[in-house]
Amino acid sequence: MESPINHRTDFVITLEMHDQIVAAAARLRAGGVVAFPTETVYGLGADISNPSAVRRIFEIKGRPVDHPLIVHFADAARLQHWAQEVPEAAWQLAEHFWPGPLTLILPRSRHVPPDVTGGQDLVGLRIPDHPVALALLHELGPEKALAAPSANRFGRVSPTTAAHVQEELGHAVDMILDGGACKVGLESTIVGFSGQTATILRPGGISLAALAEVLHGKVVLPQAKDSTVRVPGTLASHYAPLTPLEVWPTEALWQRVRELAAQGLQVVVLEWSEPEPVSPENSSILYFPMPSEAFAYGSQLYATLRRFDHGRFDRLLVEAPPADPAWLAVADRLQRASCMPFDKLQPR
Ligand code: TXA
Ligand code: MG
Repeated sequence: MESPINHRTDFVITLEMHDQIVAAAARLRAGGVVAFPTETVYGLGADISNPSAVRRIFEIKGRPVDHPLIVHFADAARLQHWAQEVPEAAWQLAEHFWPGPLTLILPRSRHVPPDVTGGQDLVGLRIPDHPVALALLHELGPEKALAAPSANRFGRVSPTTAAHVQEELGHAVDMILDGGACKVGLESTIVGFSGQTATILRPGGISLAALAEVLHGKVVLPQAKDSTVRVPGTLASHYAPLTPLEVWPTEALWQRVRELAAQGLQVVVLEWSEPEPVSPENSSILYFPMPSEAFAYGSQLYATLRRFDHGRFDRLLVEAPPADPAWLAVADRLQRASCMPFDKLQPR
């Protein structure tokens, strides 16, 4: 079997960081809200057993209270403590991919209060693969778990550095642990179960191919109209920058760029298929090359969107990703960030 990609963020815990982790755990025990790094994106953490801390997460994010939070814990052997039933397929995925960018949706045990799951009987569970997140969870102890959505305001782009969190929510949180830039850069893959068949509810850090390999093909993408489970990360408009973003097929991209530049608009172009920087034809166009490999592209996407989302540009123009399953997570996030659906974007 192909060896799994190493998702762990290279980060060394210094003595100073150790002290900060101990202080963060104390804050969390006292009902605080602490932002912490994971290998996917930064999370906004609260002790799941503290209702007022959990409520604060929803308030800080501006997130509707019926939208469930992911529960983070440290030890896969304790999966049954948090989930009431665990199908064999879920065990296989947990063993193979945890710690890692995979969230399993399972029936919640009585240890997970319903305010964490938006009132649902299912809970999203994940063991993050970042040394700081794991150290924080170990410091809290095996009886504790952290509810942690991405540390951004509802509907906005997820943060992949501590500076992003500081900028957006610094005033509202009790503490931010800085564990460097997130290696995966897109959120975890969310998987639900129907018997032994897994359904990908949100594509993310673990690819369809990797899941299919472990489950011998028993993994499916959801039907378009399947709305039985509420996953706000799958709302049509989510992960969106403030600057309007358009996605165009390679062959139509530059015509659209010229059209907008001719209107006097300031445009940023994100392109993956052109390895050499294109010299801008016009001072209102900024060309920004992106990686041509899906994982590398995904790891930079959110940071790149934030970098150009400061009001100086009128439009972000993004080259459509390749129609290859390896690009599912990137295509999904671009679709949601886009101000118009891809399927309306026909080459002219
Ligand atoms: O990578 C990640 O998953 C990051 C890091 C911080 O772990 N977290 C994250 O959380 O992306 P959030 O809250 O921004 O998105 C979590 C998604 C939401 O779309 C939520 O609806 C879904 O997980 N989810 C959580 N619990 C669920 C449940 N019980 N049933 C269905 N969906 C659930
Ligand atoms: Mg989020």
